[in-house]
Amino acid sequence: MYKDGKIFLAKSDHKLYLEPSMANRHGLIAGATGTGKTITMKVMAESFSDMGVPVFMADVKGDLSGMCLPGVPSDGMQDRVNLLGLMDFELHGCPTRFWDVFGEAGHPARLTVSDMGPVLLARLLNLTQVQSGVLDIVFRVADDNGLLLLDLKDLRAMLRYVGDNREEFTTSYGNVSTASIGAIQRALLRLEDEDGEVLFGEPALDIRDWMRTDRDGRGYINILSSRRLIRSPMVYASFLLWMMTELFERLPEVGDLDKPRMIFFFDEAHLLFDDAPKALVQKIVQVVKLIRSKGVGIYFISQSPSDIPDEVLAQLSNRVQHALRAYTPAEQKAVRAAAKAFRENPDFDTEEALQELGVGEALVSFLDEYGIPSVVERADIMPPQSLMGPADEEYVQKLIIRDEFDLKYRESVDRESAFEILERANQELELLRRQEEEEEAVEKQRRREEAAAERRRLKDEERAQREYEREQERASKRRRDTIERAASNAASSAARSVSTNLVNSVMGGRKVNGKTMAKRAATNALSSVMRSGSKSILRGLFGNKR
Ligand SMILES: Nc1ncnc2c1ncn2[C@@H]1O[C@H](COP(=O)(O)OP(=O)(O)OP(=O)(O)O)[C@@H](O)[C@H]1O
Ligand SMILES: [Mg+2]
Repeated sequence: MYKDGKIFLAKSDHKLYLEPSMANRHGLIAGATGTGKTITMKVMAESFSDMGVPVFMADVKGDLSGMCLPGVPSDGMQDRVNLLGLMDFELHGCPTRFWDVFGEAGHPARLTVSDMGPVLLARLLNLTQVQSGVLDIVFRVADDNGLLLLDLKDLRAMLRYVGDNREEFTTSYGNVSTASIGAIQRALLRLEDEDGEVLFGEPALDIRDWMRTDRDGRGYINILSSRRLIRSPMVYASFLLWMMTELFERLPEVGDLDKPRMIFFFDEAHLLFDDAPKALVQKIVQVVKLIRSKGVGIYFISQSPSDIPDEVLAQLSNRVQHALRAYTPAEQKAVRAAAKAFRENPDFDTEEALQELGVGEALVSFLDEYGIPSVVERADIMPPQSLMGPADEEYVQKLIIRDEFDLKYRESVDRESAFEILERANQELELLRRQEEEEEAVEKQRRREEAAAERRRLKDEERAQREYEREQERASKRRRDTIERAASNAASSAARSVSTNLVNSVMGGRKVNGKTMAKRAATNALSSVMRSGSKSILRGLFGNKR
């Protein structure tokens, strides 16, 4: 309960206040199951809200939604009010906003891949140094080419693009191996298996929207529905990792303020550290150490202080320790350690008291206004002013829909980014390739037809040449024959007249039967001699050509 400018949280023989100026020194609420941790957290959160300090809470069990409604009076509550002597106790709800990465039980809380950046992403995906280097190149190539990385499909498209053109990028950015690209793709697959793609996109959450106050100056309680989220540990870790980094990087240094700028509560905090990627644990340690000076307080709620890594535990100064059970040696050891963390009170034995505490009772030690831890007190915790259990789901849905932030964050916007641009470039390239193929095919066909035409032309020419030659030959033969015939005729007529003269002169022109016979024979013989003589003459004239 917010009272006298302080947080009145519990009462021993006197009132115990959490000093607002020391609230950024972080805190721990621990205790066995059912001892009152969540209620203590709610009481603190209500008081911060009333003080004007916005609050973030991860709702792992779904029992925080009642904070938006006033509590319901009951006998049990009245007993506690009487026990604590609360004269001015009023029931009231708090200004509450609901958020949900999956968009079901609250306004969608998204972030972009570039918001997360290559370093966080590489840590989250558990990449090796070489693979992280390649992821870094992918981000730089995207940046240098004005390609936005908003969602996982942008990152996938970019990985493919860099992988396909790795020779080109290797020369200007550094070695890009297919093996590394493949390993990153596989790591992304694991994230997608947990529905991780819903986490990335636009509009991305502006963390300043968690740091709002209402019209009356009361801080908003931002409840992140984590019931489904914790079943996707990688997505849960991604979101928290981003949130921590974002806070750390965005908020200016402010030193010590009168009251914190914002308070974070992580209920069931062991879930943050069990099986959490090393990167997340390292980041939490770093943020817890340094964020105090930015005016932010972080409170972890867990069953045992031993659930929290020592390095983190050492930073948690405001402590509320509910009852611890110590059945096993390990539990006894944890109880001893928890007791030792307190400045002893001479009025009771811390270790014993720790095991005797009732529900709604706790050992409490806060930093005083000078930053010194108070002596441990055994005290009763205030009852919550808002509804103890969860609110009706329908009522919560109405609140969500009516909220101005639902308008801002409900619909995801898939604006043009790396995926769309690369997809279009690929389509254009494909079109160009097909056009080139078609043109090439047309050109090939044209060349084929030309070659065929040329072959036909050559054949025709050859045929014409042969025809011409044959014709020439025939003509020349005809000429030869004519000449031969002419020569032969001339020779035989000459021979005939010579032989007649010869025979006449030999025979004296007398007509004797036997002698006539001899004359004819002589003529024939002579004519054949002349024929062969004329052939020799012809050959002498035309050479040996036929
Ligand atoms: N300060 C308180 N005022 C009134 N009732 C309380 C208070 N603390 C605890 N209770 C009662 O005890 C119940 C259990 O408390 P709570 O849910 O806070 O336990 P828890 O330690 O968070 O348990 P778990 O480990 O199961 O989450 C409450 O529902 C409520 O009835
Ligand atoms: Mg609880």
